[in-house]
Amino acid sequence: MQLKPFLLDMWLDRYEHNIEFNLAASTGPVWTLKQILGLASEEERERFLNHKVVYGRPAGADSLRAAIAEMQGVDFDAVQVVTGASEALVILMWLAAEPGANVILPQPGFTTFSALPESLRLETRYYAVRKENDFRIDPEEIKQLADRNTKLILLNSPHNPTGATISDAELDNLHDFTSSRGIQLVSDEVYHPIFHGRMTKSAARLPHATVIHDFSKAFPLSGIRTGWMIEHDPKLRERYWNARAYFSITNNTAGEMLAEIAMRHRDIVLGKTQQTATQNLGQLETFMSEHRETLGWIPPRGGMTAFPWLTSGENSRAFCLEAAEQGILLAPGDCFDEPSHFRLGFGVMTEKFSDALDRLSGLVKNWSSANLTKA
Ligand SMILES: Cc1ncc(COP(=O)(O)O)c(C=O)c1O
Repeated sequence: MQLKPFLLDMWLDRYEHNIEFNLAASTGPVWTLKQILGLASEEERERFLNHKVVYGRPAGADSLRAAIAEMQGVDFDAVQVVTGASEALVILMWLAAEPGANVILPQPGFTTFSALPESLRLETRYYAVRKENDFRIDPEEIKQLADRNTKLILLNSPHNPTGATISDAELDNLHDFTSSRGIQLVSDEVYHPIFHGRMTKSAARLPHATVIHDFSKAFPLSGIRTGWMIEHDPKLRERYWNARAYFSITNNTAGEMLAEIAMRHRDIVLGKTQQTATQNLGQLETFMSEHRETLGWIPPRGGMTAFPWLTSGENSRAFCLEAAEQGILLAPGDCFDEPSHFRLGFGVMTEKFSDALDRLSGLVKNWSSANLTKA
């Protein structure tokens, strides 16, 4: 069995740990352990410090599940905790991998979406989130790809890397379609609820949808490696529980406790992500309009990433390499099979975002004059 190279993570791992300006990350702003514990009540801190470092429960700690259920407005039983949304994807693709089955996925998309089913020999079918269609996620295009062998349709809203979102009505429409055909509708909501304009509701309200979410993006605590699934169908939950018991047995239980603190104080944690993203997006808008000759873009409607492109149509990797040389990390579009694009994350930097854009501005100007000279 082969897993294709994870180009994005190879790129990030090469630069992310010692770059001056990180405009590649897709998360919200960084939190320290001290800051998270600083949110906790005295009782929560004591509970954390006296926690017995033993296996937890495969479905997740009861108190964390209760906190997640409250946020999502679902029953406690509907919550399955996992080791990041990544594990949720492994579980779902593993269980979908029946002979002859196909899955429907967004292109571009988070690489794991395609790498897992490809490695499991599932047929992969793609709907496009394309700039020509204003980065719209089109339910009709998705429906046309489905047939009797379709096991699963994956949505990601807000979408990585474009920031596209699907409306509540479109989601309802797809849910009607999938439930009438016995297709599993999976809604990856790791960037929820960060929006720039229209807000949309979680698919957790829909009886036949499966939601995956995490503490890595909107809740930017990626180091605790904790995520969750919402599933209303008890039979499917049993299958997830079983898969999870094989794959990772339980979470890192200290991570679960930190996740619970963040969840119970989510107004502050999510508020900081939204505020950072909103403020930085305002600056990014000005930057993009100043450079519209060289860079095209469609403003993201949610999440913390934008997916601009070089108007020349050339591969952006050289541009991203040059930016990295100058201390600015972007993510090349070939990591998403869209070489002329690059991903720009605007949620992680709380300070100096404008300094990063100023430096990038210099590079863009040089890049465009070098191109003019070539022409
Ligand atoms: C859309 C999407 N889903 C899932 C994940 C996996 O995140 P994690 O395993 O940290 O929860 C990512 C990470 O980048 C992502 O962008």
